[in-house]
Amino acid sequence: MSPQTLNKKSLKKPAKKTAKKPTKRPAVATSENNTKQKLYASLVVQLLSLLKGEHDFIANAANFSALLFNSLPNVNWAGFYFLQGEELVLGPFQGNPACVRIPMGKGVCGVAAQQCETIIVPNVHEFPGHIACDVASNSEIVVPLFDGERLLGVLDLDSPTIGRFDDQDAEGLNELVTVFVAHEEGIGP
Ligand code: SME
Repeated sequence: MSPQTLNKKSLKKPAKKTAKKPTKRPAVATSENNTKQKLYASLVVQLLSLLKGEHDFIANAANFSALLFNSLPNVNWAGFYFLQGEELVLGPFQGNPACVRIPMGKGVCGVAAQQCETIIVPNVHEFPGHIACDVASNSEIVVPLFDGERLLGVLDLDSPTIGRFDDQDAEGLNELVTVFVAHEEGIGP
């Protein structure tokens, strides 16, 4: 797939919503969170370095997923699903082979894409309609990617640890995808 195959007929980013209550994890000022902040700050620097001088969308998305997979602790899957028509299609990732197509509104990815908001799932076994790609996964975070207001797809991370992802992860990952998309400005048809 090339960036040109990304479908332009896509969803518009809605006005900023408050995160849903069940997915909201309190950000408490702890040393663990400070460490997390530093980790994400370092990942921004590393991502910029990986992207520098390269504008192949798939190659950059592949390196981005590898960076996340190898840098974030307790993550067993990290990768992308890109919007094609009314469904999400598997993009570059690290981890076990995964389901290729996810309809909008289905699974955590489809719901995050449809609602155009980050979803944190502390326990995937309690999320109605969760699509299990790896039996080891117990928690998940899905971050939508936008080119301006156009939805491009989602970044998906799984963890074997219950409650692995919190607001610090949501914030850090949103910053990273913003850096990524800004670098790839004008992607898609
Ligand atoms: N669990 C996801 C499916 C993708 S995999 O986790 C890689 C979902 O429910 O949408």
